[in-house]
Amino acid sequence: MKSSMKMGVVALIGVCVVFYQYHLSNGVRFDQLADFNSPDPASAYGAANIPGSEMYDYNGLRRVSEEMIRAAVRNVQNSNGLSPELGNLLVQELMGQFNKLEGVRPEKPCPLPSKKTSTLDPLYIITPTYRRPEQIPELTRMAHTLMLVENVHWLVIEDANVPTEQVTKLLNRTGIKFQHLIAPMPDKYKNKKGAKPRGVSNRNRGLKWIRANATSGVFYFADDDNTYDIDLFNEIRQTQNVSMFPVGLCTKFGISSPVVKNGKFSGFYDGWIAGRKFPVDMAGFAVSVKFLLQRPNATMPYRAGFEEDGFLKSLAPFNPREIQLLADNCTRVLAWHTQTKRNEPSAPLDMKLYGDTNLVHLKQQIV
Ligand SMILES: *[C@@H]1O[C@H](CO)[C@@H](O)[C@H](O)[C@H]1NC(C)=O
Repeated sequence: MKSSMKMGVVALIGVCVVFYQYHLSNGVRFDQLADFNSPDPASAYGAANIPGSEMYDYNGLRRVSEEMIRAAVRNVQNSNGLSPELGNLLVQELMGQFNKLEGVRPEKPCPLPSKKTSTLDPLYIITPTYRRPEQIPELTRMAHTLMLVENVHWLVIEDANVPTEQVTKLLNRTGIKFQHLIAPMPDKYKNKKGAKPRGVSNRNRGLKWIRANATSGVFYFADDDNTYDIDLFNEIRQTQNVSMFPVGLCTKFGISSPVVKNGKFSGFYDGWIAGRKFPVDMAGFAVSVKFLLQRPNATMPYRAGFEEDGFLKSLAPFNPREIQLLADNCTRVLAWHTQTKRNEPSAPLDMKLYGDTNLVHLKQQIV
């Protein structure tokens, strides 16, 4: 091989590598690159914002990349005198290599909320919480998820006699529509030995708020320590009456989910059945506001371990076979029952030593 030709080949491969890495690092897809050149500037980003729109035009991607490879080979031919046969061979070889990338297709990108005012019905997220060292970091994390969702109304309800000031401050900063409410657990359950029905007073307070203020949309019980895929919110928006979907990590089975056979509900998979009619996780179902309003007696019982079952049974008439299966027939995990390690409350600050330092401000942010 002549040295000028070698350089040409090296340059060509370099172009492809740079092009591919640019694709990987920027997350810019080839179909979008094509869109940048389209006469309608709005289309370059517009398509990415339509939830569920098909954005994987791999034929388009192949076409664009073939054009770019051909153009690069032509440039090398013009500047270094590569023969047409070798040029064609190179194009074929590079396209062959390129097609191998099919195996590393990017996953479906998460849709981001559009900046337009939403015409979607509200999504009420009921989050029970209580004062503890992890409270602010958990709610920060969750807020940053919900900030990616359109028309969310976040009901943050504390098991407390007074709302935690740091929580109010955080909520005010998010820009999310919210209600910061309190609902202390009644003393008779608080003083009981054994497992306590935590979060029940909070969730019932949330239901009461919805009955008084909401007329449409969907609600979902979302604990502050779980992890939510933002696709979950597009899914639960489709809830007609009661919808269900898989939850990851919540039992020794690793998953809690409706069992689906031939596209139909055929039972529940959960590590802890315990005679429950609805052995599901709190994060595994959503309910439409209208459905709730038609059931004035629906409520969550103060019964540790049976909160979900009791609430879903209180939605009668409602049977498991009427469950609307979400998350592609329950084939995707979009909610994770994660838990955060408990932390000891922090020791008070030694004001003699640190009373005139930044630590005073920092300590005020630790609950
Ligand atoms: C669910 O399964 C049914 C029956 O197999 C099928 O018709 C339907 O398209 C599936 N839905 C989704 C979203 O995958």
